[in-house]
Amino acid sequence: MVDKEHLPQHVGIIMDGNGRWAKKRGLPRTEGHRRGAEVFRTISTYASDIGVPYLTFYAFSTENWKRPQQEIDVIMDLFRDFLHEAEQRQAENETRRFCFRFIGDLSVLPEDIRALADWMEKHNPENGRTTVNVAVNYGGRSELTHAFRTLLSRVQSGELTEPDVTEDAIAQALYTAGQPDPDLIIRPSGEYRLSNFLTWQSAYSEFWFSDILWPDFTTADFDRALEDFARRSRRFGGI
Ligand code: FPP
Repeated sequence: MVDKEHLPQHVGIIMDGNGRWAKKRGLPRTEGHRRGAEVFRTISTYASDIGVPYLTFYAFSTENWKRPQQEIDVIMDLFRDFLHEAEQRQAENETRRFCFRFIGDLSVLPEDIRALADWMEKHNPENGRTTVNVAVNYGGRSELTHAFRTLLSRVQSGELTEPDVTEDAIAQALYTAGQPDPDLIIRPSGEYRLSNFLTWQSAYSEFWFSDILWPDFTTADFDRALEDFARRSRRFGGI
């Protein structure tokens, strides 16, 4: 049973292990991503059902452009499919009150994906229940660089002065402005690192690691992560 009293308000998830999942089955890596995209749908729906208000999924990092072009093309196609489907399932999304947000530098993505993402964000319900951030061409350092440039130009224009550049002002210049920091970050696939994910926002996150490969990740695994989280003692530097 999920402990509703200690439910994280924001869960970040690094969807890792797709390639290894496919390799183990003698399938092309891209099959792992296809399966991973289905798990993304299952977990976001489940998390919404149990009342997690914010989710961030790491879907494509600023470093993932180093992969073979064919693999990148398949991942872009998965974004396209998801965006088209969400456009078609607008009624259901409204009932669930899902707010989808794309975080990252979208400027270099294919034009049609940008237009679809833009359409989707504009059609988000006003009284959203679950915000799902999909991090695409996202890197924590790139996000911070973008935020510092935004603040610098506001200082240069005289809109802000140096003392206005506070931690809060920086947080509000990030892609996740207005959202709580992730309480819990889940990384499956046996890797124990953050890989440039939510660099600023993760300062006080709890981490949950597991050997499960993302395409095998189930709602029961998500529950286990939440149960462990509920038992953690968070002191935020206090005693
Ligand atoms: C990391 O696993 C996974 C990725 C770089 C891509 C993740 C993208 C998806 C699951 C598609 C998301 C789609 C939507 C609609 C949000 P890896 O390939 O590095 O795995 P490996 O470490 O086993 O090689």
